[in-house]
Amino acid sequence: MALVEPVETSSEAGALPDAATVDESIRLITDNATRIMTWKYDREREQLVTLYNKAMSSQWNSVTDLDWATEVDPERLVNEQPSPTMQLVAAAAKIPNSPLANWSEKELTTAGIEFMKANLSQFMHGEQGAMMTAAKIVETVPWIDAKYYASTQTMDEARHTEVFAKYLHEKLGEAYPMSPTLDAQIMALLEDSRWDIAYLGMQIVIESLALAAFGDMLRRTNEPLLRKLLRYVMADEARHVAFGILSLAEYYENLSSAELLERQEFMLENTIRQRSRSTTPEVWERLDVSVDAVLPFLHQAAEETGVHPTASFQRGFFAKLVPNTRRLGLLDANDGYLRKAWGEAGLMEFEFADDTATDYDAYDAVAQDRAS
Ligand SMILES: [Fe+2]
Ligand SMILES: [Fe+2]
Repeated sequence: MALVEPVETSSEAGALPDAATVDESIRLITDNATRIMTWKYDREREQLVTLYNKAMSSQWNSVTDLDWATEVDPERLVNEQPSPTMQLVAAAAKIPNSPLANWSEKELTTAGIEFMKANLSQFMHGEQGAMMTAAKIVETVPWIDAKYYASTQTMDEARHTEVFAKYLHEKLGEAYPMSPTLDAQIMALLEDSRWDIAYLGMQIVIESLALAAFGDMLRRTNEPLLRKLLRYVMADEARHVAFGILSLAEYYENLSSAELLERQEFMLENTIRQRSRSTTPEVWERLDVSVDAVLPFLHQAAEETGVHPTASFQRGFFAKLVPNTRRLGLLDANDGYLRKAWGEAGLMEFEFADDTATDYDAYDAVAQDRAS
């Protein structure tokens, strides 16, 4: 008689279970990239060494550097300087027959708080995506200096995820789920077999987007805790973009035209997709308003007031993205494939704006605060 019963195996053994069968609160992702360990410990990339040293000295502490005892009044937070979205909502409430026509000030404020929560929720989910992507880069990039740097970034992104989650939880209330657009964008990066695509999609596209979105919120808020949180997060993000530019500029020097074209198409796809970001239906659902009913009135309000909710944010995004992409050599490869396409979309005016590989020091609010 066998002392130990043989373990039953099946063709299913080792296969990942479906996320839904494990727990609703998790998501399973299969990464198709190969991990790389290196025995070359020489510090060969001086600019990455400088950036890594900078990252270590500019780390901040989410518990002691931010004053979590600050009283936050959500109503004041959203009414002080209404966001472009809220300006539109207020204008739509003045149009007869609009589903918002009888809304009181109180209801408008409630909507403002919901939009703020929705915004911060996407920041939080995006930060977790950034944490996962940075960890993927640690595992898949071949260079030791880049592995070191990406490790500090993983810690930065953990802190960012944590502070946005804490701000939402302690100051504003229940978070929103990850939006389908952001979800699709980040999952594609985490699954991709090419290590540089995780870099390109996260460090160049999403981080440039984040810098613009955080900057936009920072300009509109006087709330001291949120202001400091955003300034500190942006200080880290600017370094992350610089990390992407320095690494990819080197890697792309040696790619073939066909390989570069793949990267150019990736950029085009990701920027055009960004331009057509849809209105947040989940906010309207929570407010008990039909999206289909309210949308035509929001469009009408946009036409009448000339307010476009994403205009200033889009400008900020492309003002970062275009010069950063120029530094990678992706504008002009393949007979200027990307230059032509972005030119037609009116984006080339930003070509010579400051790129983040050189201006990241200007963002370092942590060093500035410590110096004063
Ligand atoms: Fe971040
Ligand atoms: Fe980042």
